[in-house]
Amino acid sequence: MTKVMLLTGASRGIGRAIAKEAQARGWTLSLGLRDPRLPEGVSPDTAEALAYDATARSEAGWVSGVMARHGRIDAVVACAGVLPLKSILTDDEDTVQQLFEVNVHAPRRLAAAAWEPLKAAGAGRIAIIASLSGKRVKSTGSALYSVSKFAAVGLAHALRHEGWADGIRATAICPGLVNTEMGANASGGAFPPEAMTQPADLARLTLDAMDYPGTLSQAEITVNCQVDGIY
Ligand SMILES: NC(=O)c1ccc[n+]([C@@H]2O[C@H](COP(=O)([O-])OP(=O)(O)OC[C@H]3O[C@@H](n4cnc5c(N)ncnc54)[C@H](OP(=O)(O)O)[C@@H]3O)[C@@H](O)[C@H]2O)c1
Repeated sequence: MTKVMLLTGASRGIGRAIAKEAQARGWTLSLGLRDPRLPEGVSPDTAEALAYDATARSEAGWVSGVMARHGRIDAVVACAGVLPLKSILTDDEDTVQQLFEVNVHAPRRLAAAAWEPLKAAGAGRIAIIASLSGKRVKSTGSALYSVSKFAAVGLAHALRHEGWADGIRATAICPGLVNTEMGANASGGAFPPEAMTQPADLARLTLDAMDYPGTLSQAEITVNCQVDGIY
């Protein structure tokens, strides 16, 4: 039986690249998507697309459906994310709540919902697609997003501690600018897309981390496409 991965955010950008790379490496995919259509380049042979909104608190139902259909879950990759370019002092409380719901609370709920199957797998893997913005605050414009991504990095560390004895390994993936819609928004069009980290390259790195044995655990992977302090 092939290994089964739950993946969010695969409609486009980094998540779609991870889906393509994972499928090429033989994973069976359960994709949680707001518009449940398989993204371009992902074959229906070993992938399903299910309706999933990270703000809907539907993770437990997703997991039980996957267990009924596939009987196992070997990996969870939380890639869905939002980047509101708002001040940390904003009074737009709805935006702040949605930011934390998508970037932090939903990944925690998904990992928790999948916990018993990940334990049963014996070598469960979790990747939280965080950001270099979870390692340092780069600007006032990205500061609110940074606060959520610091929490996402902390979540990956917390899950790694929680799951260690059961063979589960968790990694925070922390890229700088990546050539996606979000990358274009974050850079304000001021950085050439071809000079950004490419989604397919980040996907290879992410899948490598999932493939490593438990004795080669990578707690964080930081990558960048420009000189940026110690990153
Ligand atoms: N691009 C960068 O420079 C960069 C750098 C560091 C970290 N990251 C992180 O990498 C991850 C992927 O980013 P990306 O660059 O690929 O962004 P993107 O192209 O903007 O894609 C965002 C993804 O998140 C999904 N999503 C957003 N809100 C959702 C919700 N409420 N429920 C379910 N799915 C939702 C989107 O689905 P829809 O298509 O339905 O909107 C889409 O699949 C994010 O966590 C982001 O913070 C990105």
